[in-house]
Amino acid sequence: MIALPDGWSIEWLEEVDSTNEHLKRGSYQHGHVVVADRQTHGRGRRGAVWHSEPGGGLAFSVMLRPSEPRGLWPRLALAAGLAVAEGLGRLGIEAGVKWPNDVWIGDKKVAGILVEAVPEGAIVGIGLNVGTREFPEDISNTATSLWLADRVDRTREEVLEILLPPLAAWSARIGRDFGELLGSLRERCVLTGRAVTLDTAAGSESGVVRGIGDHGELLLESSDGIRPILQADQVRIT
Ligand code: BTN
Repeated sequence: MIALPDGWSIEWLEEVDSTNEHLKRGSYQHGHVVVADRQTHGRGRRGAVWHSEPGGGLAFSVMLRPSEPRGLWPRLALAAGLAVAEGLGRLGIEAGVKWPNDVWIGDKKVAGILVEAVPEGAIVGIGLNVGTREFPEDISNTATSLWLADRVDRTREEVLEILLPPLAAWSARIGRDFGELLGSLRERCVLTGRAVTLDTAAGSESGVVRGIGDHGELLLESSDGIRPILQADQVRIT
């Protein structure tokens, strides 16, 4: 049994379609965590499939019922990314946040986050590559795992136990204490200073990232000046 943040609960499933979907089917308290050994229909953002082979990946979702207004809930994705990056730091692995939803080690993705709002709260789903030793050729240049970072064998339980406290702490700071969250996020933002191309609802735009603004938006500098980007389907480093 792992230690949990105060008031949180956990269930561990052998197999489920998707841990996010599992939480949608029930009525769960704030801080209920569901972890699955295997997801048959793991989902990523933008309808992508999330593969996590047994033993290689940690797939879990948390039901959060923030007291802050719904309009602030998108900040949970930033809180979750920061929490994962910080948790990996506690394991001795330097990790950064690729705004808005990914966690990177070096220039490769180690974790992805899918936040979905439901009537009673927000489901934060996290997929983290833990023990994967080799990725398929098509993603081996863009994906990494904790094992590939430092060759240490870790159980998913020990990794989860490290990640949950910062997740509880940062997800409680999307309101009045958001400035503190932003401060830590800015330190870990891997995009600052880099040239990127963003795919947004309005089309693609390119520029250089100048940081993260006071509402969690990406600040993109192009020939038109610095513009706030609130949402992007994809951010590619160019
Ligand atoms: C992304 O990078 O596109 C987000 C990936 C999110 C994957 C996690 S695994 C646990 C939870 N259950 C899902 O079906 N998806 C999320």
